[in-house]
Amino acid sequence: MILDKNKKDNNYMKELVKCFLSHGKINVVKPALFLALCLISAVTFSQEGEKLFKQNCASCHALTDKKMVGPGLKGISEKRSEEWLLKWTKNSAELISSGDADAKAIFEEFNKIPMPPFALSDDEIKAIFSYVKSPDQKTAQAETGNASATVTAAVNEPAPETTGSMNLTSIIILVVVGMMLVLALIVRANANKIVQHQTGGVAASRGILANNKKIFAVLFIVLALFGLKGLWDTLFNIGVAQGYQPVQPIKFSHKVHVAQNKISCNYCHTGARNGKVAGIPPASTCMNCHKYVSEGPLTGTVEIAKIYKALDYNTETQTYGNNPQPIEWVRVHNLPDHAYFNHAQHVSVGKVECQTCHGPIQEMDEAKQFSPLTMGWCVECHRTTEVKMEGNSYYTKLHDKLRNKYKGQPITVDKMGGLDCSKCHY
Ligand code: HEC
Ligand code: HEC
Ligand code: HEC
Ligand code: HEC
Ligand code: HEC
Ligand code: HEC
Repeated sequence: MILDKNKKDNNYMKELVKCFLSHGKINVVKPALFLALCLISAVTFSQEGEKLFKQNCASCHALTDKKMVGPGLKGISEKRSEEWLLKWTKNSAELISSGDADAKAIFEEFNKIPMPPFALSDDEIKAIFSYVKSPDQKTAQAETGNASATVTAAVNEPAPETTGSMNLTSIIILVVVGMMLVLALIVRANANKIVQHQTGGVAASRGILANNKKIFAVLFIVLALFGLKGLWDTLFNIGVAQGYQPVQPIKFSHKVHVAQNKISCNYCHTGARNGKVAGIPPASTCMNCHKYVSEGPLTGTVEIAKIYKALDYNTETQTYGNNPQPIEWVRVHNLPDHAYFNHAQHVSVGKVECQTCHGPIQEMDEAKQFSPLTMGWCVECHRTTEVKMEGNSYYTKLHDKLRNKYKGQPITVDKMGGLDCSKCHY
């Protein structure tokens, strides 16, 4: 239930509201409860749009009219119909090839850079565009008076972004709602006590117990739901650093090396195909070429000279001194220590392209973190990516078993245990 939670949230909430409203006997609690549930679902919806946007679209689209990889999306709902937006987001290539004039025009305008198709539901896409339309009017933030500038700015700037504060907002609301309910409970209990004292009635005291039970149950459910949601979001968003692009000691350009000089990833990141860690090449690898290439198109001799300096290499005499210093590259991608990720498993066994996770790094002059690297990101791909079975002898036996078990269904990574906590956590 938890893993499908995002999709089911809103229906779940509706059911709950209906259920509680039909128990018309609770009168003090009802309005508070209703308010609480409204708040929860509104927050959930706006957060869902925001989360989906950040996960899927923010790497190429700004919320303003600024061009990034794709056009800025400000005012897009006025420019295009909802139907068009649904079709486009699901599969832009299909819409373009169907001869749609607007689709063709925007594709041409952006030099025919294809936008990837997205396996999102209609509701999810609507949530995205409703967030794009009014990123500022977010219930959660309006409630606490917290400016939404942080969120918008984070999306637009390639700076490390942390979404933890959003969860804080929901937690604050949770606490406030919880306190309101407890207050209502105390007031009510006291009022009843007074009534009971005055009338000495037995009927009232029975009422207290029954009502308190209900109130406690309601309180518990609301707290539990909110707690779960908060926990889940927190797990998914802790320390998200998408777009992180630190300054490196040497201005190494993947564009110059990979795109212009056709050097394969493997030449430098030798570990990616057969090991856990892809690895950064040592300076000696650079020297295979830079013994001869001392000048580049972007930075002339300045940056390449830093390789020589690091190796204490004398270009005149072509000899190495005895005072080499390692080049201290700043790590761009960094999973927390408790998470286990293995390159070979994805690159060699899973046949996932480097670019699926690292983005178009061959076009970058400075490497940056393309994917969010959150648990949600790992899990989402495991739920949607089919395992490549052909020519994968390592898994033949397992794959035969899986084929039998899930006859005719697509076998995605989660079906072979890709959602087990222990596979990714030490
Ligand atoms: C890898 C980059 C990339 C990602 C990720 C991406 N887009 Fe795009 N998008 C583009 C490009 C490039 C265009 C311009 C058209 C073209 O070249 O295909 C575009 C165009 C669009 C347009 C049409 C704009 C107009 O003016 O008509 C919409 C709408 C859109 N994208 C929505 C989205 C949504 C929603 C998401 C996330 C679910 C998303 N895009 C994710 C690259 C991307
Ligand atoms: C000529 C050697 C070379 C080639 C070829 C090369 N890289 Fe790199 N790569 C480096 C160096 C050096 C760094 C560290 C400096 C930096 O981050 O820019 C690096 C950094 C990276 C990083 C960021 C690592 C981190 O700190 O998290 C990724 C991801 C990456 N490379 C992927 C690729 C991919 C994918 C390809 C092939 C399309 C590729 N590289 C080709 C040398 C190379
Ligand atoms: C397989 C050959 C090869 C390897 C290995 C290699 N380079 Fe290069 N490098 C080149 C070529 C070719 C150029 C571009 C020369 C040109 O286009 O004029 C270049 C250019 C550069 C430039 C100048 C960029 C510019 O545009 O001004 C820097 C800096 C650089 N390399 C750093 C490195 C570092 C650091 C390493 C090791 C991690 C490395 N290179 C490994 C071939 C290589
Ligand atoms: C682009 C898709 C994609 C992303 C993103 C992704 N994975 Fe995977 N992962 C796969 C595929 C495909 C396999 C199956 C490889 C195979 O055939 O064994 C896999 C397998 C695994 C396995 C082995 C599962 C098993 O049952 O043996 C682990 C562990 C794993 N991934 C961890 C991670 C972690 C941790 C992350 C996030 C940091 C992550 N993956 C992100 C596609 C992905
Ligand atoms: C399924 C997603 C995925 C694929 C595919 C993938 N990487 Fe990575 N890469 C990651 C993650 C996640 C990290 C961070 C690992 C960590 O911090 O432990 C990473 C880290 C790196 C680093 C930093 C050094 C290291 O290993 O920790 C380099 C360099 C790198 N990748 C290069 C590559 C290259 C080259 C390819 C293709 C041959 C590739 N990656 C394919 C997800 C991926
Ligand atoms: C496919 C890989 C994958 C699976 C399966 C997975 N996790 Fe994670 N998990 C991660 C990654 C990667 C991170 C780090 C994300 C980050 O830093 O944003 C993470 C982060 C976490 C954190 C946050 C810790 C912290 O404070 O940084 C907790 C707790 C956690 N996972 C628990 C679980 C539990 C419980 C399960 C089983 C239901 C699970 N994970 C399954 C990949 C996975």
